[in-house]
Amino acid sequence: MTDVAISRESLAADLRRLGVSEGDTLYIHSSLKRVGWLPDGPATLIEALLDVLGPEGTFAVPTHTLSFPGRGAAPYRPDETPSVLGTFPEAVRRWPGACRSGHASHSSAAVGAKAAWLTENHDSTHALGENSPLARLCRIGGRILLLGVDNRVNTAIHLAESLAGMPYVRLPYDASWGPDTAAELPDGSTVRFRQREFPGCSERFELLEPDFEAAGIVRKGVVGNAPSRLIEAGEMLQIAVARLRAEPGLLLCGEADCPCCPARRALLAAR
Ligand SMILES: CC(C)(COP(=O)(O)OP(=O)(O)OC[C@H]1O[C@@H](n2cnc3c(N)ncnc32)[C@H](O)[C@@H]1OP(=O)(O)O)[C@@H](O)C(=O)NCCC(=O)NCCS
Ligand SMILES: [Zn+2]
Repeated sequence: MTDVAISRESLAADLRRLGVSEGDTLYIHSSLKRVGWLPDGPATLIEALLDVLGPEGTFAVPTHTLSFPGRGAAPYRPDETPSVLGTFPEAVRRWPGACRSGHASHSSAAVGAKAAWLTENHDSTHALGENSPLARLCRIGGRILLLGVDNRVNTAIHLAESLAGMPYVRLPYDASWGPDTAAELPDGSTVRFRQREFPGCSERFELLEPDFEAAGIVRKGVVGNAPSRLIEAGEMLQIAVARLRAEPGLLLCGEADCPCCPARRALLAAR
């Protein structure tokens, strides 16, 4: 990161040049360090997004908390539990008027016209099911914005694994975590939710990028200092689902010490 400050106005211009338009619905994954020095920190980026998207636009971010009691995590409290995914998602969930979904490990937060609709009734037992913010965003022509990061953090590709019917999504990311998340209710009691599917390892997700580019659904540019991509979410999902149906092991990594992929590979091999 250089010390040259990046203004709200220049960020807005970069976002427009990348193809972000008024009224868009975005799902954003980011590295703030890559974007560069922002005078007001993440607020500068939030304000630039609001400028570009206008009153009809919306942006959402992952605010995952991994609230699995099996890994020693406290029960999820939507208003309190910090996200484990960096500075920008934290700033978004705390932004005035932001909404945050109720899933105890894989919540999303959103700001803007469709924020409430995107985040309401997030299925507590299925992080990336039909009733998840990301699935809704894909259905309405939303777009994935990768700011200084690549498809290895593109959570919607986990949604493709689910929609493609990959049997391995029923195995926890790490068996030692167990299958339950936990959330704290407003009365202080705790409720556990048995998860039906689990987002897993994403180390190989970048393998899909050539397919996305060949389909003409990726726009590339720079936002601040960050190499960035804007991807059409619905089309991306269809492409990823088709690839996975043809090659179910495609996205499982080959690392022996991955907490997730060896068991998933064994499950596919046993079928
Ligand atoms: C892990 C990850 C968040 C790390 O990126 P990062 O840029 O180092 O971290 P953040 O985005 O949290 O930004 C914090 C950094 O911004 C920098 N920063 C501090 N003040 C800043 C400012 N005013 N302006 C800009 N950057 C600033 C600092 O370097 C800070 O790092 P530090 O606290 O270690 O010094 C990123 O690589 C990533 O993976 N992002 C996507 C996560 C995601 O969506 N995952 C989905 C999983 S399914
Ligand atoms: Zn792996």
